[in-house]
Amino acid sequence: MKLVFGNIKMNMLNQDVTNYLDGIENDSNAIYIPPFIYLKDFINKGLSVGAQDVSFKEIGAMTGDISASQLKSIGVTYAIVSHSERRANYQDDKFSNQKIKRCLENGIIPILCIGELLEEKEKGITKEVLTSEIDEAFLDINPDELKDVIIAYEPVWAISTYEGILPNREIIDDIALFIKNYLKDKYNLSLRLLYGGSVNEVSCDEFNNCKFIDGYLVGGCSLKKDKFKELIEKCK
Ligand code: PGA
Repeated sequence: MKLVFGNIKMNMLNQDVTNYLDGIENDSNAIYIPPFIYLKDFINKGLSVGAQDVSFKEIGAMTGDISASQLKSIGVTYAIVSHSERRANYQDDKFSNQKIKRCLENGIIPILCIGELLEEKEKGITKEVLTSEIDEAFLDINPDELKDVIIAYEPVWAISTYEGILPNREIIDDIALFIKNYLKDKYNLSLRLLYGGSVNEVSCDEFNNCKFIDGYLVGGCSLKKDKFKELIEKCK
């Protein structure tokens, strides 16, 4: 079985949510990550949910932010930390460590996104980028506290709204094994590892053969509930 996390990103109007949720059932391998304002609709439907981001601060004067304790208080289980879109637009490189700490203090499972840009891949520095993103995020945290963290490897060039280039299975498995070995050797951790970037109900036929991937972080396909359901079923 592979886990399937659906990151709806900044999509859906209020009136679309009812339609989307109509007929949706809880699948043990599916987690929905809607915009903050719809989290409660998904929770009330009995679905497993995550947030698209979390504040690096605990509580108080942080206009526009949502804290890990607030997420916990409404029944959210996961939070994405430092998605590449937030690294690009909101300097999340600087905040991944504090965001992970806030999640861990409040019993939220962080999904740490790492991944290289196309130009970094072309320069041959993919592995350096990935290890430095991991090391920055894990700085000063006791590895014992990190054992539930989920890593999402998302090569930025593979995300559908960027270049959307589909990597082949060998490339993903090679990088996934590298990440798993690095986590084991440096932190003595065996973490769950997701792949993200143009995963859908068709491309998963290839990705499902990856030996070192435990699931997917899905963007575009999660907006189309029938196709997303097909993907979830194929991953059971
Ligand atoms: P995509 O997005 O599935 O649309 O490529 C993945 C992501 O950004 O998490």
